[in-house]
Amino acid sequence: MSKLWGGRFTKQTNRLVEEYTASIGFDKALAEEDVQGSLAHVTMLGKCGILPEEDVEKIKEGLHQVLLKIRRGELEYSVSDEDIHMNIEKQLIDEVGSVGGKLHTGRSRNDQVATDMHLYLRKRVVEFVGLLQELQEALLGQAKANLDTIVPGYTHLQRAQPILFAHHLLAYVSMFQRDIERLQDSYKRINVLPLGAGALAGTTFPIDRHFVAEQLHFDGVYENSLDAVSDRDFIVEFLADASILMMHLSRLSEELVLWSSTEFRFIELDDAFCTGSSIMPQKKNPDVPELVRGKTGRVYGNLMGLLTVLKSLPLAYNKDMQEDKEGMFDTVATLQGALQLFAPMIATMKVNKERMREAVNQDFSNATDIADFLANKGLPFRQAHEVIGKTVLYCIQNGKYLLDLTLEEFKQFSPLFDDSIYDVLQPESVVNARNVYGGTATPQVTAAIERAESMLKAG
Ligand code: ARG
Repeated sequence: MSKLWGGRFTKQTNRLVEEYTASIGFDKALAEEDVQGSLAHVTMLGKCGILPEEDVEKIKEGLHQVLLKIRRGELEYSVSDEDIHMNIEKQLIDEVGSVGGKLHTGRSRNDQVATDMHLYLRKRVVEFVGLLQELQEALLGQAKANLDTIVPGYTHLQRAQPILFAHHLLAYVSMFQRDIERLQDSYKRINVLPLGAGALAGTTFPIDRHFVAEQLHFDGVYENSLDAVSDRDFIVEFLADASILMMHLSRLSEELVLWSSTEFRFIELDDAFCTGSSIMPQKKNPDVPELVRGKTGRVYGNLMGLLTVLKSLPLAYNKDMQEDKEGMFDTVATLQGALQLFAPMIATMKVNKERMREAVNQDFSNATDIADFLANKGLPFRQAHEVIGKTVLYCIQNGKYLLDLTLEEFKQFSPLFDDSIYDVLQPESVVNARNVYGGTATPQVTAAIERAESMLKAG
């Protein structure tokens, strides 16, 4: 089959070379963006008097026909046309005849492919922000339902201080908010138009890049034509943002897996989000969070992959850059899969409040508060720490928790103890004592939920 670039060649392309260099197998995902970019480009060619309006109309009609075929899944892609750009141009020429060959006037595949990628990622970023907000809503829903649920808070995965379960969930709302803000910020760099850079140096035709930018709703155009066709920072940035987001999802996943174990029994994921074992009838496995945790690896891998592809590439376009796509598509699909499942999985998860309370009642996570109690009575905190360390050791040796001690036993460790210690040690008191902005006290968490809700409403 003849090539769009065949003029300079005297031989057919080796079949293996064709297969090796083709990207149509994956870049067909850019089909709609490619047509969208071409429509704006050809409109501009007409407006600038580079092509006569009747040619422009024919090309536009043809592009619309091609778009219909793409949407109906009727377009047949061929490896010998290498990539999505040449496949579509070939289709257009089939559709409207040789006038279709005028579409590529003043354009190169180098600025074309970059434009397609910008259009593609721009859409995805908006979708991901929406999915993240749905997840935040699910977390907020659980937080509101668990304003009275006290759970051990951990450091080193050892019981540290009791907290509201709502407070724990709100930590993730904050993490996902940063992910949203990162994506929104990256939009500034994604929403810049490379088209008009030509192959690398610009074009001899009197084109209007700003007109194309307006048509495609880009906020601006690349300043430098070499940079326009060489830049893949916006993809690296997306992959980095995606990696941080997956790291957050993976941390939450790990907690969901732990919390749903028999050892914790803090939560139960809905049956619809779990799977069973082919041999052990009693099993209900948290496959979704496990897989999200596992798939974090490939998202990090895609980031490292692209950084490594780009490292040391001379300006401007190099074929190496075709390797920017599969990792990006894979990360988009991985993120979509995870985020679509996470919001309903969190919304439907059952929280075992009694079991959480039982855990809190059977630990020393109120120890800091008696140290603070003695410090408030004037004992230097360092000494108070020592006294309570001994008290805890006494409890461990005698199979007791702090609240089981009599006042006489307390007084063996310090004469400063009095009856009020029993109130201080109640989990509710311990939680509500941390009444600082951003802390776990109920009024603080209630206010934090309100702030998060208005932030979500503001979008
Ligand atoms: N399929 C190519 C890519 O993804 C399109 C650009 C090709 N440009 C070229 N000069 N061969 O990078």
